[in-house]
Order: sequence, then C-alpha cells, then structure tokens
Amino acid sequence: MRGDLGDRLGRPLKDLRISVTDRCNFRCRYCMPREVFGKDFPFLERGGIMSFEEIDRFAGIFIDLGVEKIRLTGGEPLLRKNLPDLISMLSMRGVEIAMTTNGVLLPRYAPALSAAGLDRVTVSLDAIDESTFASITDSGHTVASVMAGIEAAESVGLGPIKINTVVKKNSNEDEILDLVERFSNRDIAIRFIEYMDVGTTNGWSMEEVVTAEEIRSIIGVDEQITPDKKSDVAKRYRLSKGGEVGVISSVTEPFCGDCTRARLSADGRLFTCLFSSKGVDLLTMMRAGSTDKELAKAIETTWSNREDRYSEIRSEQANTPNRIEMSYIGG
Ligand code: GTP
Ligand code: 5AD
Ligand code: SF4
Ligand code: SF4
Repeated sequence: MRGDLGDRLGRPLKDLRISVTDRCNFRCRYCMPREVFGKDFPFLERGGIMSFEEIDRFAGIFIDLGVEKIRLTGGEPLLRKNLPDLISMLSMRGVEIAMTTNGVLLPRYAPALSAAGLDRVTVSLDAIDESTFASITDSGHTVASVMAGIEAAESVGLGPIKINTVVKKNSNEDEILDLVERFSNRDIAIRFIEYMDVGTTNGWSMEEVVTAEEIRSIIGVDEQITPDKKSDVAKRYRLSKGGEVGVISSVTEPFCGDCTRARLSADGRLFTCLFSSKGVDLLTMMRAGSTDKELAKAIETTWSNREDRYSEIRSEQANTPNRIEMSYIGG
C-alpha cells in the first residue's frame, strides 16, 4: 500500500504539514491582522488541540500511507510548550522533520530542537529594515531578533536554512535586493513568495501582488536551476554574481499539478488544499476510539477523492467564503 495512494489527478501523498498551534507572537498584517486576531479572537481551546501522542500517532499512519516529509507549522510552532518533546517522538519515525517559524524564539530553543532530532528550519523574514519589519509584523519583535534566531539555528546545524519572504506591493518590494544581498552568498536559500489570497481577513487584491516575473526582474536572475524534486514549490535561479534565489509563484504560475501536500490543523482536521474551507475531523474519530486502520481508511478515502487545484482555477473560485486562515493551517 505504501506510496501508491493517488488522488483524482494522480498526485501521490508525500508531504504532511502539521500545525501545532493556531497562535502567534506576530500579527503580520497579511496573515493575522490585529483588528481580527485580537484579545477576543476565539483561538482553539487547549483541550481541542492534538496532544503530542495524538500527533505522533497520526504521523505514523500518514507515513504508512506514503508520507516522506513532515513539516511543523503554526501559527508559530515554537509557542507550543515542550515542542522538542514532540520532535523527539517524530524523529524516531525515520522521515525528514522540518519546521517553519518566525525565528524569534530560536535563540532559546534551537539547541533543544536540534538535539531532539529536528532536521532543518525555514524562517519567515519580510524585511531587513527595522521600521518596515515593524509595520509588517505589527509586534514588538525586531529584525535583529530574527537574525539572532537564524544564527542560532545555523550554529546547531539546523540547515540548510531557508528564508521565506512574502512580497506585497507598496510594502516591501524595496527590501528584495537588500535581502538577496544579505543571504544569497551564505549557505541560506532565500525565497520570495507571491502574496496569496489565503483566508478571508487580509483583504487581498491582485493589485497588491508583486508577480514572480516582477520579482525576477527586480533581482535580475540568471538561468533557472533544475529542481531537486517535482513537488518543490520554489523555482530556483542562479545569480550572475554568484549564489541563488527562489521564487514561489503560487498566484501567477501555479503548481497544483505537482501538489503532494496534506495539512493537519492543530485540532486534527485534514485539509487537502491551502484554500479549502472544510477539513475532515480525524481527531474526533481518533478520540472516539477509531483504530489506526480505520483512520488510514478515512485518510485514503479523502485523498483519493481529492481534486483540489485552487491556484490554477483561482479566477473562477475567487471569494469562496469560509476559506481557512493561514495561521490556522500553517503555510
Ligand atoms: P521544503 O521544500 O521542505 O523546504 O518546504 P516548502 O518550501 O514546501 O515549505 P515552506 O513552508 O517554506 O513553503 C513556502 C511557502 O510556499 C509557504 O509558506 C506558502 O506560502 C507556499 N506554499 C507552500 N505549499 C503550498 C501549497 O501547497 N500551495 C500554495 N498555493 N502555496 C504553498
Ligand atoms: N501569502 C503568501 N504567503 C503567506 N504566508 C502567510 N500568509 C501568506 C499569504 N497571504 C507565509 C508566511 C510564512 C509561511 C508560513 O506562509 O510568511 O513564511
Ligand atoms: Fe506572521 Fe507567520 Fe505569525 Fe502569520 S503565522 S502572523 S505570517 S509570523
Ligand atoms: Fe496544492 Fe491547493 Fe496550493 Fe494548488 S492551491 S498547490 S492544490 S495547496
């Protein structure tokens, strides 16, 4: 059975992204605008989110179905208490374990994460300029603290490190070259992401997207590098002065055809697309006593019925109501 599970478009299930919390210590305007995600926002209750044992059990089931890579996401995953304990459990399962984080808690946790068996981290960073960073992230945190996080991760071997930069018009286009300058000649891969219409709270409009084409022309990329894997989301380009950059063109050059990713929210729902509005509540099944076999069956059925390709048919689907938020499901 392992590895031969295909969806309706023939795509195998290879990657599992697990959100460990829907909370974050940043309030990025494009992800968790403070006026929506304020004190009264109904974040998930502690009892409703998966325990480490439950996450580990799901991981085992998904790996049996063909998953080769697990990525922990949030919200901000490092806000989840004792996260290294979860990493220790997952790292026994023999697949790659990565994490996407905003980086500011890495100076505190990187050594324990690495010791527990985390393979690598991806750090989100949208600007080098402190005031631009402050206006985007709307929190008391600084570029300096993210940089310290990157250094901490590097020093304990959590590499190769990747940096994710969401580019939004009239916000941080003029940070692109500074970011490239800062990272491209180190062993750090910087990737620029087109601003996407995830969720319903960020007021997305196409006018605010800096397209992959525009990003490439701002940087002045050379030739494209052949991808390591078909399912990689970033297209990589060589720079004439050495080094490389990545561009993630989810809006203007969608890559649904190679999408092998399943997502598990912190409350244990399975989503087959970043733009889904409904998930399959696997945690309730598990808590009601379903066996691993029954849970595997539910996952198989969901995956084999999957026909999501939101980014490819965006214009027909725009304004689908109740789309999940990025902070709930992770990137
Ligand atoms: P590795 O290849 O393991 O390093 O991971 P990755 O590049 O898939 O992970 P990462 O979380 O860094 O993905 C980068 C960004 O690409 C995400 O934050 C999203 O913005 C975007 N992205 C990732 N997966 C998808 C996807 O399935 N659909 C869309 N539309 N965007 C995605
Ligand atoms: N469009 C593109 N990327 C986004 N991210 C969060 N919201 C959006 C959006 N609307 C990115 C974050 C982080 C990753 C988890 O997803 O910057 O790198
Ligand atoms: Fe920003 Fe990531 Fe937190 Fe969203 S989850 S508010 S993008 S740091
Ligand atoms: Fe996959 Fe959906 Fe993103 Fe397309 S839009 S790449 S199907 S998650």
